[in-house]
Amino acid sequence: MPLPAARIERLPRYVFDIIGESIRALQQRGIDVYRLDIGNPDMPPPPAIIETLAEAARNPRLHGYSGYRGTPEYRRAVARYYQRRYGVDLQPDTEVLPLIGSKEGIVNLSLAYLDHGDLALVPDVGYPSYSMGAYLAGAEVHWLPMRPESGFLPDLHNIPPDVLSRAKILWLNYPNNPTSAVAPLSFYEQAVAFCARYGLLLASDNPYNDIVFDGYTAPSPLQIPGAKDFTVEFMSLSKSHNMAGWRMGAVVGSSVALGRLLQIKSNVDSGHFLPIYEAATMALDEIPDAWIAERNAIYQRRRDLLLAALPQMGLAAPRPLATLYTWATPLDMPAADYLRRALDEAHVSLGPGAAYGPGGENNIRISISLPDARFEEAVDRLVTWYTRRGA
Ligand SMILES: Cc1ncc(COP(=O)(O)O)c(C=O)c1O
Repeated sequence: MPLPAARIERLPRYVFDIIGESIRALQQRGIDVYRLDIGNPDMPPPPAIIETLAEAARNPRLHGYSGYRGTPEYRRAVARYYQRRYGVDLQPDTEVLPLIGSKEGIVNLSLAYLDHGDLALVPDVGYPSYSMGAYLAGAEVHWLPMRPESGFLPDLHNIPPDVLSRAKILWLNYPNNPTSAVAPLSFYEQAVAFCARYGLLLASDNPYNDIVFDGYTAPSPLQIPGAKDFTVEFMSLSKSHNMAGWRMGAVVGSSVALGRLLQIKSNVDSGHFLPIYEAATMALDEIPDAWIAERNAIYQRRRDLLLAALPQMGLAAPRPLATLYTWATPLDMPAADYLRRALDEAHVSLGPGAAYGPGGENNIRISISLPDARFEEAVDRLVTWYTRRGA
């Protein structure tokens, strides 16, 4: 066998792949592991979406290749969604590009823009695909610290000039995974002005925009006048409509950036199964806000249950206004010990903060995407383990 490509050396194994291995080892010993480590919606999509998929799958005309830009109906539905949700106008044929989940789009955008010697500005902490995409492209990462005292918003004014001269992409993600922080529109104004000044592509990753609590509404940088010339935003139905396994999303914004991304994608993939486009079009056009609000009320109850129990679990965390996550700090032991003991002794798997960047070493990400009864049991287990723990 030949040796693998050098780029593999720079790429760590995906963290959830590694966590999955420890969990499987416990499961093979007959142990029931509660997974609060992963953000995987536990509830199904609305039945009408599934019926649309089933009906479309029975149509013999919908089994061929779907084309590299997806269907015009889906692109138009995404544009209507942006108009309704943010008041943002998008040209469906040039400013909307379907993605096979936003993850591939994030990595492929990096391949479209970054070369050896280039830099991506990546939040530390953040979703791993921003840095991994840069590494895959042979480029480097400049970490932007995300500090609780600044609301987990990066300081864009203290980036060294030699970094700015090599940087091409600024990654932002609000509502944020893993910290659950949100950004006001005024922060996007600053970020758009910053990218305009330094000739950067602003890449906003926004899959949690509709997982919100306490009446919060998440904005988009595309609401800032002029942003569309150099901004793209990734949207996804994975979390908003409980469709994570369907791999349905889109990137919207700068037609120039979308064209370059399409140049990569059209050489790599051949689009979705057409019935998925039909169902996703229906989801964006017809699933009422009331369904989203009802689903969010379930997440909000879990969030409240978790927040109330945190002190008895030896953890502290800011109150999330959005996302599936709570970003917790252990009060009296290193995060790595907490994670290991929670798994070995309480059989609850939690997300290691270090997986989201060097700044996450002292943190633990707790997901609320487990059915109510199991979620409550998992919280009880952590409380019982922590209160009775030995040295
Ligand atoms: C911040 C962030 N971006 C992107 C993704 C990828 O989502 P998708 O299912 O659309 O690929 C996730 C998934 O968890 C995420 O948390």
